[in-house]
Amino acid sequence: VFPKIRLRNSLTEYGLVAQLFHWLIVALILVQFVLGYVAADLPLGLRKVALLAQHKSVGITILALAALRILWRSVSHHPQTRNGMRWQRWLAAAMHGSLYVLLFMIPISGWLMSSARNFSVSWFGLVTLPDFVEADPRLYQFFRSAHELLVYALAVLAALHATAAIKHHFIDRDDVLVRMLPIILRRSRQPAVSRSEVND
Ligand code: HEM
Ligand code: HEM
Repeated sequence: VFPKIRLRNSLTEYGLVAQLFHWLIVALILVQFVLGYVAADLPLGLRKVALLAQHKSVGITILALAALRILWRSVSHHPQTRNGMRWQRWLAAAMHGSLYVLLFMIPISGWLMSSARNFSVSWFGLVTLPDFVEADPRLYQFFRSAHELLVYALAVLAALHATAAIKHHFIDRDDVLVRMLPIILRRSRQPAVSRSEVND
């Protein structure tokens, strides 16, 4: 018997759409770290420019996905957790909020960095994005430092966030990680919130 696949979130679980957004963005961010650091180490030249063009296109894709994801989130239920202390639920919400903010600020700082360097950003050579700032070396330096700092912040927060998910799975043995996994990857777990606790 196959469980029914649900696209939308319920008050107890993430639906397939939220799960796909989550893991697709995680995968693209890993690609971005590789492209970004490899390109940053190369001397100025064709290869660097080509890698950075890929990096920018993938980064703009993440920006668009993040916008769609927030939109989707705003029209669906949000799964709740009743387990744990109040401060833990507050911390999880603050973490998710910060991760969302970074998903916007990192691509935008990259976009503005490129404009300030006088390179308009192109999305896979198909669409050229507008420049919202003047070409200016000081602005370029500013956005470049901002991009780098925000990227560090993402690395630290995402590592803490992943550690929390793993702790829930292996130490608390609840369903917090499992409910973010598509149905084929799941094994039954004690729910972090039971259906009877949720008032629909
Ligand atoms: C979530 C999306 C993104 C992530 C995770 C990301 C991550 C990174 C990382 C790890 C680096 C190398 C470290 C550094 O030199 O700062 C980098 C560099 C860079 N990124 Fe991004 N980036 C993203 C989006 C973008 C976007 C959308 C653009 C432009 C449209 C962009 C433009 C650049 C540029 C031009 C560099 C090279 C900086 C240099 O000259 O060294 N990035 N990025
Ligand atoms: C760049 C990496 C990551 C980012 C930016 C990220 C971002 C997010 C965001 C924004 C949420 C909140 C979703 C929502 O309710 O709308 C979330 C939830 C979640 N993430 Fe991640 N995540 C990342 C990596 C990971 C990894 C590696 C794991 C697993 C080891 C993970 C496991 C989870 C789980 C289990 C939830 C659901 C938490 C709950 O139900 O309260 N994430 N993530």
